[in-house]
Order: sequence, then C-alpha cells, then structure tokens
Amino acid sequence: MKRRGDRYQGAPERWARLHGGVERNLDDRSSWPAGPPPELTDGRLLVRPWRSEDAAWLVTVCQDPEIQRWTRVPSPYTDDDAVRFVTELAPTAWQEGRGWHAAVTDAATGDGLGAVGIVPVPGLDGVAEIGYYAAAHRRRRGVVSDAVGLLVEWTWASTELARLELHVDPRNRASAAVAVRCGFTLDGVLVDRGVHRGERHDVALYSLLRP
Ligand SMILES: CC(C)(COP(=O)(O)OP(=O)(O)OC[C@H]1O[C@@H](n2cnc3c(N)ncnc32)[C@H](O)[C@@H]1OP(=O)(O)O)[C@@H](O)C(=O)NCCC(=O)NCCS
Repeated sequence: MKRRGDRYQGAPERWARLHGGVERNLDDRSSWPAGPPPELTDGRLLVRPWRSEDAAWLVTVCQDPEIQRWTRVPSPYTDDDAVRFVTELAPTAWQEGRGWHAAVTDAATGDGLGAVGIVPVPGLDGVAEIGYYAAAHRRRRGVVSDAVGLLVEWTWASTELARLELHVDPRNRASAAVAVRCGFTLDGVLVDRGVHRGERHDVALYSLLRP
C-alpha cells in the first residue's frame, strides 16, 4: 500500500509506472474501458447504468432541496431533464469516454436509492472526479459510501486512472463525512474555487490515490 507522502519520493519511477512511457496520455479517450458499462453489486446495492424506466423515480429524487443545493443537477428539475439524462446524456458520456453516470438501486427490490458518477477531469492525465447523491428518505444508511466503494474498486480494476477526487463545499458536512468514510484525504480547501448557481464558494478537495 502506498503512503501518501510517497508520491513526492521516487517521483520519476512513479511517473513512468503510471504513464507507461512518456507518450501515454491518460486523458486520451482511448484509455476509457471499451464495451458496455458494468453492473456492480455488493449484494445489498446494485450500481448499474441508467435505464429509461428510471426517469420516473429520478425526477422525484431530484426535487429534494439538498440535492439541488449541493449538486449540479438542473434546478428546477423537470421530467424532461430526467428523461434526457437517462436516455441521452449518461449513455453518451460513457460511449464518448467522458465518464460513467450510474444509478444506485436496492439489489433485492430494484428501488432507486441514488446516483454516483465518475468523470475524468479534462486536461489532467489520470484524474477523475466522483459525484453522488442519495434519495432523501434513504440517507444515513451507508448507501452512498458503499456505492462509492464499489465505484472505486471498479476504477482501480478497470481503468488506468491514478487519482480520484471529490470536490465538496466545506459547508456540506454530510458529503465531507462520505469522503472520510470512503478513505479520501483532504488535500486542502481552495478558496472561491467553485461557482454554484451563481454563488462563488470554497471547495474542499479530497483525493484517493491508486493503491
Ligand atoms: C451527502 C450524501 C450523498 C450522503 O449520502 P448517505 O447515503 O446518507 O451517506 P452514508 O449513509 O453513506 O454516510 C456516510 C457517512 O456520512 C455521515 N453522514 C451522512 N449524512 C450526514 C449528515 N447529514 N451530517 C453528518 N454526517 C452525515 C454518516 O454518518 C456516515 O459517517 P459514519 O461512517 O461516520 O457513520 C447525502 O446526504 C445527499 O445526497 N446529500 C445531498 C446531495 C449532496 O450533497 N451530494 C454531494 C455533493 S458533493
């Protein structure tokens, strides 16, 4: 297991290992997994591609003021937004190597519980940002931290990404708690780094390095 301080030691070796040669560009879309997006489960949760029938519960979940306050979902969130997301935006992002947006459901009942997504950060080789939310009535049961855990496992096994990030408004204590629970480390707080619905805000940058 790599210690965080190690990244500043033996840097050339690590650079060579991660990049496999100077010409390799991990921001290149060809480094994104080929084929259809996966389905991930731990027996309790199923993290899977969005389906057209998810639009109905997605639009309900996204009415929640906390989701609109802390995430970049459209506000107000309409039926058309949900349909477009599950049928066009999410599948196209995967196909074009711009990330994976997945539904989090109950593995036994199929109930919609929330969402997770992973998006390579443009211009940064081997770096991707993870985002998430849970349905308001399903919170504080480990849904999102377990779903992020599945997503992280898949990332290390199936992509060549080297670093995962969470960008959290420091006022969002629930999201900061998820970051810690999932083993991310706070790199620092970037002052006025974000803009959300017209308001500038600080961004707590959490990271997790490939083990
Ligand atoms: C943040 C959010 C995704 C957490 O989802 P969740 O499924 O309830 O999280 P979990 O149950 O996995 O909880 C993980 C940890 O966070 C803690 N936590 C969850 N909600 C919390 C809250 N409101 N205040 C403090 N801690 C909280 C849990 O206690 C747990 O910590 P523990 O392991 O020490 O017990 C959910 O509150 C949410 O959807 N919020 C609105 C959208 C959002 O903020 N998205 C993130 C944008 S960066």
